[in-house]
Parts: sequence; C-alpha cells; structure tokens
Amino acid sequence: MLLTSFVPLLLAALPALGQDIKYDLAHNATPIFGTWSTGSKAVSTGPGFANPLNQTFIYPTNTGCSYSFDEDGHYEIARYRFNSNGSEPTCITGVMNWVHGTFDLLGNGSIVMTPFGDGYQQIQDPCGAVSNFIESYNDTELYQSWRIFLDPQDGPKLHLFQFDGTPVAPMFQLSATPNMLPTQALRNVTPAVQPALTSQKRSFEKRNAGERTWTPAGLVGLVVSLGTACAASLIL
Ligand SMILES: *[C@@H]1O[C@H](CO)[C@@H](O)[C@H](O)[C@H]1NC(C)=O
Ligand SMILES: *[C@@H]1O[C@H](CO)[C@@H](O)[C@H](O)[C@H]1NC(C)=O
Ligand SMILES: *[C@@H]1O[C@H](CO)[C@@H](O)[C@H](O)[C@H]1NC(C)=O
Ligand SMILES: *[C@@H]1O[C@H](CO)[C@@H](O)[C@H](O)[C@H]1NC(C)=O
Repeated sequence: MLLTSFVPLLLAALPALGQDIKYDLAHNATPIFGTWSTGSKAVSTGPGFANPLNQTFIYPTNTGCSYSFDEDGHYEIARYRFNSNGSEPTCITGVMNWVHGTFDLLGNGSIVMTPFGDGYQQIQDPCGAVSNFIESYNDTELYQSWRIFLDPQDGPKLHLFQFDGTPVAPMFQLSATPNMLPTQALRNVTPAVQPALTSQKRSFEKRNAGERTWTPAGLVGLVVSLGTACAASLIL
C-alpha cells in the first residue's frame, strides 16, 4: 500500500504537450496516452467498434465508453449508452456514437477535443417519429478537468469531468499504446455551415438506419446503469 502511493512520484517526468501545462500528482499517475474504458471494458475505440467509411457499428456486448489519446494530439471516442426519460420510462433511447479528431491539454487543466468532421451516431428511439437513424456527430467537447489515479487493484484510472463538471464514469486503462483508427478524416464530409445558434447544431441530416439494429440483451439491467455512464453531450 505504502509503495503504491509513491509510484506517481517516480513517473513525474512526462512528455509535455504544451509549455504551460503543469502535470501535478493529480494527473501523472501515468500519462493520459493510451486507450481507456469504463466499467466492464466492453467498449473500446479502434477497428472493433466503428466502420466510418460506411457509417456502421460493431455492437458491443455491453454499454460503456472508451477514449483514446495518442502522443501526437489525436483522440478517439467510442460510446454505447442508453438514455432514459423519466416521464416516459418505456422510451429508452439507445445511442452508438463515434468521433475522433485532435485534442488540446489547456494550461488551465481543461481538455478541448475538436472533431475531424467524420463522426457519426446511430440512435434507436422506440418512441420517436423515426425509430432508428444515423446522423453526423461533430460536436467539439470541452472537459473542465481530468485526473489519473493509481487504483491498487485496477491500475491507472482516468477521471474526466465534462464542461459542466459532471463526471464521466471512471475509465480503466486498456493499453498504454492507443488502439485507434487512422487519425485523419475517414470519409468525405462537407463542412457544415457554422450555425449562428448552438441550438441549431443538431440539425444534421438524418437517414434511416434500415436493417442495422441492435437488441439490448437485458434492458432492465441497463436502465440501472444509466446516469453517469458516459458523457452527457449525447443528449438529443
Ligand atoms: C461496412 O464496412 C465494414 C468494414 O469494411 C464491413 O465489414 C461491413 O460489412 C460493411 N457494412 C455494410 C452494411 O456495408
Ligand atoms: C421525455 O418524454 C416527453 C414526452 O414524450 C418529452 O416531451 C420530453 O422532451 C422527453 N425528455 C427527454 C429528455 O427526452
Ligand atoms: C479553461 O479555458 C477554456 C478556454 O478558455 C475554458 O473554456 C474552460 O472553462 C477553462 N477551464 C477552467 C477549469 O477554468
Ligand atoms: C466539424 O467541427 C470542426 C470544429 O468545429 C469544424 O472545423 C469542421 O468544419 C466540422 N466539420 C463538419 C463536416 O461540419
């Protein structure tokens, strides 16, 4: 136990991405580079989750989130989650979401993730007018802060806090070398006209997902895992 708490000190010499970033003990239990995944570790970035070329997904066996960061400033996110609606408890919306781009570790401790434009998501909304569709996802995401702790059992654990301070479920390190798709736009996208109002940012073209569908095995169990499961930026 005692020894474990000293490990961060030994790893203090980290490659700095920016001049003014101060890696303190709260960040550098291990570098942020690598692939991280929540809970059951069923979701991972990389070729096992998304096929951006034809905008399909490989559906994981369980919900979760995965983030990867490489040393050249690229990130990738894979998310599979369910959103419930308190007033319509039977209307459980399933979301498969994939995005990648470049990230900046800001001097004030925040992280900004700027997408390449080829991100997309599939929404299954049993109560929606269109119950199953695919749309572009190109939101820039700000994380207020982040921390990495060494868990005596599970090793490095990444905590990300969203723009409003809401925590993303803690993520374990799947590998110190990131498992990512090629770090460039992977299909042709025409830049959307920058919307004047942020409320317009979801006016993406929706198209029916057709045959592509998934059936959550245990919906009851999944409802329990709602909440901080993944980032709230997926709210429709
Ligand atoms: C999409 O691309 C992947 C990877 O090339 C392929 O395995 C899959 O069959 C394709 N799916 C469709 C519906 O075209
Ligand atoms: C929940 O369902 C109600 C009724 O269908 C709808 O008006 C409301 O916008 C939904 N809330 C969310 C967060 O989706
Ligand atoms: C850090 O700076 C960015 C950009 O100015 C800002 O959006 C973010 O809220 C700041 N983070 C904190 C923790 O103040
Ligand atoms: C995606 O977002 C980035 C950052 O805001 C922007 O530069 C880019 O043009 C957007 N791409 C598309 C296809 O909208």
